[in-house]
Amino acid sequence: MNLTVIGTGYVGLVSGTCFSEMGNTVTCIDVDAQKIANLEQGIIPIYEPGLEPMVKRNLKNKTLRFSTDLSKNLEKCDIAFIAVGTPMGDDGSADLQYVLQVAKEIGLHMTHPLIIVDKSTVPVGTADKVKATIDQELENRGLEVQFDVVSNPEFLKEGDAINDFMKPDRVVVGSDSDEATDKMRALYAPFFRSSMDRLITMDVRSAEMTKYVANAMLATKISFMNEIANICELVGADVNKVRIGIGSDSRIGYSFIYPGSGYGGSCFPKDVKALKKTAEEYGYTARLISSVEEVNNKQKMVIANKVINRFGEDLRNRTFAVWGLAFKPETDDMREAPSIYIIKELIARGAKINAYDPKAMDEARHFYLKDEQNVSYFNSKYETLQDADAMILLTEWKEFRSPDFEELKKQLKQPVVFDGRNQYNHQRMQEQGFEYFQIGKK
Ligand code: UDX
Repeated sequence: MNLTVIGTGYVGLVSGTCFSEMGNTVTCIDVDAQKIANLEQGIIPIYEPGLEPMVKRNLKNKTLRFSTDLSKNLEKCDIAFIAVGTPMGDDGSADLQYVLQVAKEIGLHMTHPLIIVDKSTVPVGTADKVKATIDQELENRGLEVQFDVVSNPEFLKEGDAINDFMKPDRVVVGSDSDEATDKMRALYAPFFRSSMDRLITMDVRSAEMTKYVANAMLATKISFMNEIANICELVGADVNKVRIGIGSDSRIGYSFIYPGSGYGGSCFPKDVKALKKTAEEYGYTARLISSVEEVNNKQKMVIANKVINRFGEDLRNRTFAVWGLAFKPETDDMREAPSIYIIKELIARGAKINAYDPKAMDEARHFYLKDEQNVSYFNSKYETLQDADAMILLTEWKEFRSPDFEELKKQLKQPVVFDGRNQYNHQRMQEQGFEYFQIGKK
């Protein structure tokens, strides 16, 4: 099929590239001419494992193209995906200005029947707004062109997005037209070799809701576990043991019950807020969802508070080695990363930070910690330890899992480790002579 993907952010770029890998002809559109020029050279603006070679391969095969010109590309297009950003507005709701701007442009330029797909995470009712916007433009042009608006939310995890797209757990298609559903089924059929059971079709509003509910449910699991971790600590239990104890119940399961320094990233914080806001707009107070957010905001400070309890309120003359800045491993993304809040809190109390992250240091330097003079960046994890009072682990990159503990002891001023991701064995750390603090165990 001939596809147009509008927006070359995380979702648009991964989706467009994977569709081209499956043999479709895809044009990815963006208003940012510099970004498009870079992408045409195979220069990728984000770090995502496997993406760069896939882009380059499909560029070479001419199955993937990049352009700033939407109108020209709509001419030959079967399906147009809207994958532009839906940032959080001032009131916590999703800001739809970019989505509706694209809808307007589609309405201005379309000349033949088209399926328009909302791929961005958008609140319930957005497909109707997209439809109304296109209808209006067509009316202004005095044209009657048949089109359908479909909701096809993405469930990609950063760091594993290519796998998620190429071998999906499920694909949700929300459509109120049989013809559009059939076309979407044909598009996704190659991604399901054995059975099409995992292509789930439903009405548009349920599909829009599904995306928010999936993320809110996962965020709820994490906040629940973080709250349990805090209680475990008080009552003298070990959350790591409790986690295994409950995960073994197949109704609960092991995934997404790891306590830590709180969830971050581009999706959970924004989507939890937006779902709460949507409920409010319909006159419902979402108490549980509000608490999920509240618990998460507090959780980000748990490790900082442990540092303060250990070293005192005044952290002048203290230096801390921070391992990991990204909101999770295998990404350079720092959006809503707990590290930002923890580092800022320690610096506000006078501390100096020696930071290392395998991928996210540029993001930190140029955006998220750009005003923090007291952060120094190092090229390896061990270099951060020099003259540091303690090591604080904030992202569970594989290279932090089994470090040379002798080296840690040798370099740190005193052997103190704060572990915001429960990566090490408590007993073994103590046996090796560390003062070791983690989440959910005293
Ligand atoms: C998430 C959803 O998983 C994905 O389906 C959706 O499309 C976008 O949002 P992502 O933001 O890439 O994906 O991150 P994810 O791997 O889900 O992790 C989110 C956050 O939860 C991270 O900060 C992670 O550290 C945290 N987390 C995850 C925990 O604290 N404990 C866990 O057990 C699991």
